[in-house]
Amino acid sequence: MSYVIGIDLGTGSVKGIVLDKSGTVIEQATENYPLFHPHKGYSEQKPSDWIEGTKKVLATLINKLPQLKTELAGISISGQMHSLVLLDEDGQPLRNAILWNDVRTTAQCREITETLGAKLLAKTKNLALEGFTLPKLLWVKEHEPENWSKSARFLLPKDYLAYWLTGNQQMELSDAAGTLLLNVTDEKWDMEIAESFGISEEMLPPLVQSMDHVGNIQPIICEELGIEGIVQIFAGGADNACAALGAGIVEEDRAMCSIGTSGVFLSYEGQKEQQYHGKLHYFNHVIKDSYYSMGVTLAAGQSLTWYKETFASDETFDQLIVEAQGSKTGSNGLLFTPYIMGERTPHVDSQIRGSFIGMDAGQTRADFTRAILEGITFSLKDSQELMQEIAGKEFTEVISVGGGAKSALWLQIQADIFNTKIRTLKTEQGPGLGAAMIAAMGLDWFDSIEQCVEAFVDYEKEYLPILENVQAYREIYGIYKQVYGQTKELCHQLLAVNRR
Ligand code: XUL
Repeated sequence: MSYVIGIDLGTGSVKGIVLDKSGTVIEQATENYPLFHPHKGYSEQKPSDWIEGTKKVLATLINKLPQLKTELAGISISGQMHSLVLLDEDGQPLRNAILWNDVRTTAQCREITETLGAKLLAKTKNLALEGFTLPKLLWVKEHEPENWSKSARFLLPKDYLAYWLTGNQQMELSDAAGTLLLNVTDEKWDMEIAESFGISEEMLPPLVQSMDHVGNIQPIICEELGIEGIVQIFAGGADNACAALGAGIVEEDRAMCSIGTSGVFLSYEGQKEQQYHGKLHYFNHVIKDSYYSMGVTLAAGQSLTWYKETFASDETFDQLIVEAQGSKTGSNGLLFTPYIMGERTPHVDSQIRGSFIGMDAGQTRADFTRAILEGITFSLKDSQELMQEIAGKEFTEVISVGGGAKSALWLQIQADIFNTKIRTLKTEQGPGLGAAMIAAMGLDWFDSIEQCVEAFVDYEKEYLPILENVQAYREIYGIYKQVYGQTKELCHQLLAVNRR
């Protein structure tokens, strides 16, 4: 028997899953690691924690399945996007990694936008956002000149893990796309952008495709883990791209709706050229010569968690959702916008805040819970609408994953608001499944990505739109879309008063 391992190097933990050629998940293991917030808005991790965590995950898997020592054929990695790992000339990290959810770089984003003007969108297809990597490089250059003077190269988290495993440094395209240094359509580093900000060619690692073989596990690591065979490492991909592959998003008419702390509405794009003008993220996919577009709701599941902890801390999520079934479509006139952490899509606005509109003495907690579920879904519909209106997409189905796929009520709300069939996955493995599929493709287990999806991705339930609800939501969504414009100034003013 031959096995692959998909590793998901996330923000809170690293997870490994073992699969065989039939696409069956045989084993899994997870290790958590800490996040550091040395100042407000800062978010950092120690690259050595990722290595220790991954080593433990591999050791646990090998312990549970000793045949992996000789029968593990390949590993690939999905990783948190954008996070900066700065290395010295010996390949050692110079400082903690600065993560994708760190927002210290507003000034650097402004500098990038002003310096590059229209070239930024033309070349990178994305706007300069605090989470992306180039602003982080500029922040280190400005605030930590000593580290900057010693820096020889930068990597992203999963590429750093591949470097530890193989001894080779490279960066894979779907992740490089989130740095703002890649010409996304040419699939090359953009030296004009790099030179504009004093970043030398040597700082930029060689680029590879997701399914490229980037080396084998180094003998010293094999010895430590008791591995006797040759284990090939394949480059892997950005977590959102891997999650999309793991959900079978390999065709234009399918989208993925993922609701975790943040929410993502993502669709496959076969076209190099697109017209989203930065309204959606546009990145290289893990499937060669294809792309994906994606809109992000910053506080999706986080809105529900905030609401529960603030107003119903003694209840479980399940209890609240059961209670919300007592409300009805439109939450008895209550409308929620989930901007409690600011927003990314379609309004790039860190100062907008959420609202409940239409509060009425007749409403109950059930209406409030349901309004939260509806508001999060409306916000993701904003991304779906951009894809439909700008690119003329017609979705035949949306694969729902994450917290939003755990309740029948919320799945039906998604079907009614997206006005599209919703499907769930049989066993949700997250981005690690996509990584395992990349390893399987790299090993030539399948002739095509479609065959690989057929073997590895299993769907379970379906929810169809209910016409009456679709019509009601269409009207309410028209009102939802006006809330941003009508509350923006008020929110900005309130924030300014509060900061004084
Ligand atoms: C995408 C983004 C997040 C991270 C999470 O642009 O910032 O989804 O990839 O790991």
